[in-house]
Amino acid sequence: MKRPIISPSILSANFAHLADDMKMVNESDADWVHIDIMDGVFVPNISFGFPVLKYVAELTTKPLDVHLMIVQPEKFIPEVKALGAEIMNVHFEACPHLHRVIQQIKEAGMKPAVTINPATPVSFLKDIIKDVYMVLLMSVNPGFGGQKFIENTIDKVKELRELIEVSGSHALIEIDGGVNLETGKRLVEAGADVLVAGSAIFNAPDPIKMTKEMKNL
Ligand code: DX5
Ligand code: ZN
Repeated sequence: MKRPIISPSILSANFAHLADDMKMVNESDADWVHIDIMDGVFVPNISFGFPVLKYVAELTTKPLDVHLMIVQPEKFIPEVKALGAEIMNVHFEACPHLHRVIQQIKEAGMKPAVTINPATPVSFLKDIIKDVYMVLLMSVNPGFGGQKFIENTIDKVKELRELIEVSGSHALIEIDGGVNLETGKRLVEAGADVLVAGSAIFNAPDPIKMTKEMKNL
């Protein structure tokens, strides 16, 4: 089985010691850095904005995987690009004109990803699957770290894997929320390519060791 791509979510990092936490991620087996931007409208929480993320971007040596949990994410394509982001994730539920937004992200020189909430069916992705670099399946309701994994995500991974194969898409499957060694193993077996992990990595006694264990699932 292919080893998963690991994308630690800095939502669970210690922002009073950001440089230390970013150094840890740089030195770990993590492949990407996952950045959760929240607006208090699309989700019931506010995380951090671009003035703070400028420093995160300066401190990391890994590609940025930016997850926008905001309404009208297309407004911030230039800001996300200016961070040097490689991947820009927008929510299906926040984009009535998703096809246009995906093209705009590509035109800006980033890889477009679409995210769906736990209650959004995989089948809704049928007409966009060939245009995206990645699909992010939320395995918790977005807004907070440390929540419990929603079990039917495993079935959604299998369904999405089938949709990708049938459509001839090359999209990666990323999972976000409640990912730990136990859920991560089952997700990889079901066909997930990318695991996002916040609390499982940053709250671990040894985050470097935990990242390695996830990478070796
Ligand atoms: C939740 C965020 C996640 C969050 C995951 O809305 O999108 O990226 O940081 O945290 P854990 O891994 O603790 O569930
Ligand atoms: Zn996220």
